[in-house]
Amino acid sequence: MAQGVMLWYDLHALAAAVGPLLLVSSVLVATSSTAANCGRKCGDVRIPYPFGIGVDCAWPGFHVSCNHSFTPPRPYLYNIEIKDISVEAGEMRVYTDVVSNCYTSYNTTEYVTTSSQVDLGTPFLFARSRNEFTAIGCGAIAFLRGRDDASYSTGCITTCASLEEAAHDGDDCTGLGCCQVPSIPPNLSVLNFSFGSGSMIGNPAWRESPCSYAFVSEKGWYNFSRQDFGRAGSKGLFVESDGAKSVPTVLDWAIRGNGSCPSTAGEVAPACISAHSECANVTNGEGYLCNCSTGYAGNPYVIGGCISKFLI
Ligand SMILES: *[C@@H]1O[C@H](CO)[C@@H](O)[C@H](O)[C@H]1NC(C)=O
Ligand SMILES: *[C@@H]1O[C@H](CO)[C@@H](O)[C@H](O)[C@H]1NC(C)=O
Ligand SMILES: *[C@@H]1O[C@H](CO)[C@@H](O)[C@H](O)[C@H]1NC(C)=O
Ligand SMILES: *[C@@H]1O[C@H](CO)[C@@H](O)[C@H](O)[C@H]1NC(C)=O
Ligand SMILES: *[C@@H]1O[C@H](CO)[C@@H](O)[C@H](O)[C@H]1NC(C)=O
Ligand SMILES: *[C@@H]1O[C@H](CO)[C@@H](O)[C@H](O)[C@H]1NC(C)=O
Ligand SMILES: *[C@@H]1O[C@H](CO)[C@@H](O)[C@H](O)[C@H]1NC(C)=O
Ligand SMILES: *[C@@H]1O[C@H](CO)[C@@H](O)[C@H](O)[C@H]1NC(C)=O
Repeated sequence: MAQGVMLWYDLHALAAAVGPLLLVSSVLVATSSTAANCGRKCGDVRIPYPFGIGVDCAWPGFHVSCNHSFTPPRPYLYNIEIKDISVEAGEMRVYTDVVSNCYTSYNTTEYVTTSSQVDLGTPFLFARSRNEFTAIGCGAIAFLRGRDDASYSTGCITTCASLEEAAHDGDDCTGLGCCQVPSIPPNLSVLNFSFGSGSMIGNPAWRESPCSYAFVSEKGWYNFSRQDFGRAGSKGLFVESDGAKSVPTVLDWAIRGNGSCPSTAGEVAPACISAHSECANVTNGEGYLCNCSTGYAGNPYVIGGCISKFLI
């Protein structure tokens, strides 16, 4: 599958290099939105159609920006940094913030980041069953709220009387220094996470383990370590993006706002324009995805994008 995508990109690059003469005869020439002047990479990240850098290069709602003030450049969806995009799975990974709160005495804290709200635009939702909410620390009440009206509301509590009584490195998060909400429901586009103040709970181990952190990350990404309680927040655990601590979170995307796959046989979904592509209804929110038919691989959202696996 990955090779199929590579081939498509390589042919595309070749066509661009050889010039317009070859482009005319190439099956890979599609609409203006997939034209050669649309860059398909931002730094190290591939930006496959329906995504594109700028409105003219993307399906409505899928435009990203490429910030060249970083080396290598970084792609952004509004103010959210993109880690990678998968056309096959209809998923993408982005970096989201870590909130933190550090104790300055048994029952007083100073917030480093009070709360963080991630607000995704229309085609995007937090991926169903692919993320978990984690809080670490020796005295923390962490809240996770969803939807604009916060009608989804949950959270977890973690305590430890001393660092020695906290879970051991690599243990499950059971509330001893680490707690988790193991799954987040479907159809959520807004999440807000925060901590209750130190006066709500107390941290008997505040001298050696003062800080609490909370974040929504890809399931299985975080492995508990006692070192993560430090004020530095375990150097290297959280990815430094824009100077802020952040973690990878999985999003689902789909072609939304125009119903599901056509029910009439022979009718083609507007986005599934490659020959040998199929339409698939999504299970998170409404809308559909395109898929290359059995025996084909590549990008079903561009003309000639699905290529026979026998040619690869
Ligand atoms: C690129 O990132 C820098 C550093 O975070 C920021 O100051 C700048 O506004 C960004 N540029 C664009 C076009 O978003
Ligand atoms: C998140 O929710 C908290 C508590 O409801 C609220 O005070 C805060 O403003 C929200 N954060 C953002 C960034 O909107
Ligand atoms: C903090 O704890 C001290 C004693 O340990 C107590 O006197 C004080 O009232 C507590 N403060 C709050 C805000 O709970
Ligand atoms: C956590 O452990 C798993 C399995 O050992 C590993 O695949 C993953 O990369 C680890 N995560 C981090 C952030 O180190
Ligand atoms: C919905 O589909 C119709 C017919 O294919 C098309 O004209 C219209 O632009 C689509 N709207 C959106 C929001 O994609
Ligand atoms: C998608 O859902 C629509 C509406 O529920 C249904 O008519 C259609 O047959 C479904 N298509 C596929 C490919 O599952
Ligand atoms: C998803 O949530 C929106 C509001 O956020 C609601 O209008 C819609 O009915 C929900 N869709 C499903 C399939 O639950
Ligand atoms: C696309 O097809 C593959 C193989 O048939 C399947 O594993 C995958 O789940 C499909 N993806 C979608 C979004 O339906």
